[in-house]
Amino acid sequence: MIVAPSILSADFGHLADDIRMLDRSQAQWVHCDVMDGVFVPNISFGFPVIKAVSALTDKFIDVHLMIEKPERYVGAVRDCGAHMMNVHQEASTHLHRTVQQIHAAGMKAGVTLNPATPVVLLEDIIADLDMVLLMSVNPGFGGQSFIPGVLAKITRLKAMIAESGSKALIQIDGGINTTTGAQCAAAGADVLVAGSAVFNAPDPEAYIASLAAL
Ligand code: DX5
Ligand code: ZN
Repeated sequence: MIVAPSILSADFGHLADDIRMLDRSQAQWVHCDVMDGVFVPNISFGFPVIKAVSALTDKFIDVHLMIEKPERYVGAVRDCGAHMMNVHQEASTHLHRTVQQIHAAGMKAGVTLNPATPVVLLEDIIADLDMVLLMSVNPGFGGQSFIPGVLAKITRLKAMIAESGSKALIQIDGGINTTTGAQCAAAGADVLVAGSAVFNAPDPEAYIASLAAL
């Protein structure tokens, strides 16, 4: 299992220490949550923070943009050192063009769906995607409870990917711990994002190892 700890739950007063911990851990990716206070009811951090994070680690930088019109920032995200630019389907009207722009900038392209958005809306773009992120909470905050309905969406998405010949990975984000993570793994998830479960664990590095073993 690819584990992508979300630094939203890190200690921003000692962010470099937390990134060094992730660097030592079995996490393959670092998940960076950008919130604009418009698409979601919260504001997190932006490009200078992502740039600082990517300078501290060689891990794969996964940027989850919870912002309106994310296509405005393709160049800025790339310049931060991001490997994956992940935009919400609900936030980008011309999604096909956005995905092309992300690829032209040399990044992997991911598209995220909110809990109420059906996977069928990606049917005509799935072949172009490197990843689909299914939200298992309503985006905007860490520490919320997992919405079990995402498990059926994973099954539907997996079938759509197989049918289209797409190589897209399936990522799940929100309320992931070793219990809900195991349910997602059984349903076919490839990448698990975990924020509070990792950073509130007594031994975050060991907790990451237990998610990676799912
Ligand atoms: C939520 C963010 C998540 C968040 C997950 O809007 O997209 O990545 O950090 O936090 P937990 O794992 O605590 O639900
Ligand atoms: Zn996220």
